[in-house]
Amino acid sequence: MDSAPALTAVTRARTMRRALWFCARPMYEIPVNQFTDVAHLYDNLMAVVPYRQWVDYVERLWEWFGAQPRVVLDLACGTGNVALELHRRGYEVEGVDNSAPMLRMARRKARGRFRLYQQDARALDLPRTYDACVSLFDSLNYLIQPEDLASAFQGVHRHLVPGGVFIFDVNTIRALELGMFNQTGHGRDPSLHYVWKSQWHPETRLCAIDMEFHLQTATGTRTFYERHVQRGYTLDEIRGALESTGCEVLGVFEAFTFHAPTARTDRYYFVARRE
Ligand SMILES: C[S@@+](CC[C@H](N)C(=O)[O-])C[C@H]1O[C@@H](n2cnc3c(N)ncnc32)[C@H](O)[C@@H]1O
Repeated sequence: MDSAPALTAVTRARTMRRALWFCARPMYEIPVNQFTDVAHLYDNLMAVVPYRQWVDYVERLWEWFGAQPRVVLDLACGTGNVALELHRRGYEVEGVDNSAPMLRMARRKARGRFRLYQQDARALDLPRTYDACVSLFDSLNYLIQPEDLASAFQGVHRHLVPGGVFIFDVNTIRALELGMFNQTGHGRDPSLHYVWKSQWHPETRLCAIDMEFHLQTATGTRTFYERHVQRGYTLDEIRGALESTGCEVLGVFEAFTFHAPTARTDRYYFVARRE
């Protein structure tokens, strides 16, 4: 579906100006439009994501390491899909994310059944502690400075009970450098069309993803842009940052397996425990 011809010249010029403005911003800054307009389309775009299987895997990891959490924090919970699934399975769950539009969607789905906080992962300050924390779908790659990742890990450590377990996934450097975000497609329904292009910068290990969305509505096509930036971290960097907070790394796996990662792994799963 090519909806571009439906745009008027004025709209096209306006969207082009916006796109150029976003692209001109320095890469090492967190983009101002990240997880804004896309929020209300996020679940449409992620309809194919097997969240239930992801939570199955998290439960198997907990079991493997002898953890039996009751109270769980979903860090960078987005629209709440993981939190919702944990809630359905009987966990007492809370979620935190720094994007107000993503949280708005999460709150709609949570319908008051669990608490959601708007906070930056780099400065967590929540009113309680948790038996476990999860952070899925490469949310931590959005912490684009090593000190940001370290601050997030310190925050998780402060909010875990002693012995509490932290599970998270990250895109590997390999996945980012091979252009995993170069994608074109549709959402759950064909009215949403997207074109994503990524640029990998080996010197900073930052990956800038320019996302263009075309949404057909009753009144015409709405086009908008977001730029996302992710950083690729080495295993040693992540391990070092976790251990410096006082967390023990229990395991690092190729996603959805119990095997050690290889040079071809696209996504790591880390399991760490607060000592
Ligand atoms: C790819 S989405 C994943 C959302 C959710 N975990 C899921 O599995 O669908 C990444 C999320 O990380 C959040 N995020 C990025 N940087 C953050 C930060 N510094 N503090 C809190 N949340 C952040 C975004 O707002 C977004 O909701």
